[in-house]
Amino acid sequence: MTDSNRAFHGLVLLTFALMAVIILLSAHMRLSGAGLGCSDWPACYGRNLAGVAPPHPGWINTTHRIAASTMGFTVLAIASLAWRRRRVAPGDFPPALALLGLTAFLAALGKLTHDAHLPAVALGNLLGGFGMLALLWRLHLGYTPQYAASSRLRWQVSLGLGLLVAQIALGGMVSANFAALSCTGPSGCDSWLQHASSGAFNPFRVLNVAQGSSFIPGEAQQTLHMTHRFSALLVFCYLAWLGVCLIRENLRRSGMLLIAALMLQVALGIGIVAYRLPLFLVLMHNATAAFLLLILVTLGYRLRRR
Ligand code: HEM
Repeated sequence: MTDSNRAFHGLVLLTFALMAVIILLSAHMRLSGAGLGCSDWPACYGRNLAGVAPPHPGWINTTHRIAASTMGFTVLAIASLAWRRRRVAPGDFPPALALLGLTAFLAALGKLTHDAHLPAVALGNLLGGFGMLALLWRLHLGYTPQYAASSRLRWQVSLGLGLLVAQIALGGMVSANFAALSCTGPSGCDSWLQHASSGAFNPFRVLNVAQGSSFIPGEAQQTLHMTHRFSALLVFCYLAWLGVCLIRENLRRSGMLLIAALMLQVALGIGIVAYRLPLFLVLMHNATAAFLLLILVTLGYRLRRR
């Protein structure tokens, strides 16, 4: 690796580490702001919608602010270096530009976050953060080897990535709509299909907030919660099958890792419903979703055309 490549790669890895910290801290701030982990739980769930100070410790706010500002500079440096090196490393420029665009988007969204009544704000933060993490990882992968694979396997990985991103977006909608406790039984809500409507999936729907700024759950929350559960079943079956295909194609380590992370994610999902949303398990559910995303981005990049 040349000195210039080494410096660029080092900057990418530093920014990736900062982004991982920011994702976890943002999830902590968002979820504790929703009332998870507060002293009168579960009575406090969905409170703080009117901008009341959320119950997370001050160091989390400070660390988040420092990490986010530092990352603003490192992203600018990555984008300008990628522009200067675009002839020697043309593959780095598009992801670096997309990274800069997402940073600008998240900074603009930050100005709107006082309007927490719109699920789109929390959803935008979650997807924007995951998108940046994936782009940084893709930049890192540019400095690692690729392997030849059949075009069928490459398609299967792309489809898996698409399904996973949709499942992550649905999870974000469950969280942003305070729908986590809408169906708590092992089989969920009995009659949710009768009153299910597509309006539940509109991220610009204004949430019902009672006086005293607590949230009033409705039928849309049941639709979101149950859809996330059923789609988890589909995602589980598809990705587990993909894991088996990878093992059969001599990509044993990747296949095993995918299946193990998938099983952990589903167990965490069941755990957060069964134990009524402990903050730690929800944070782990968020982190494991990010890990699954990185596994599929790695496969999507490394498996090149035969
Ligand atoms: C491949 C499978 C799954 C993926 C990728 C996934 C992903 C996610 C993501 C990204 C979130 C948002 C977390 C956050 O707000 O930080 C979420 C939330 C949630 N998920 Fe899943 N999930 C999966 C399976 C499941 C399963 C099987 C269940 C339950 C049976 C479940 C229950 C929940 C609940 C209740 C929430 C809302 C937590 C909150 O209020 O923040 N998930 N999921």
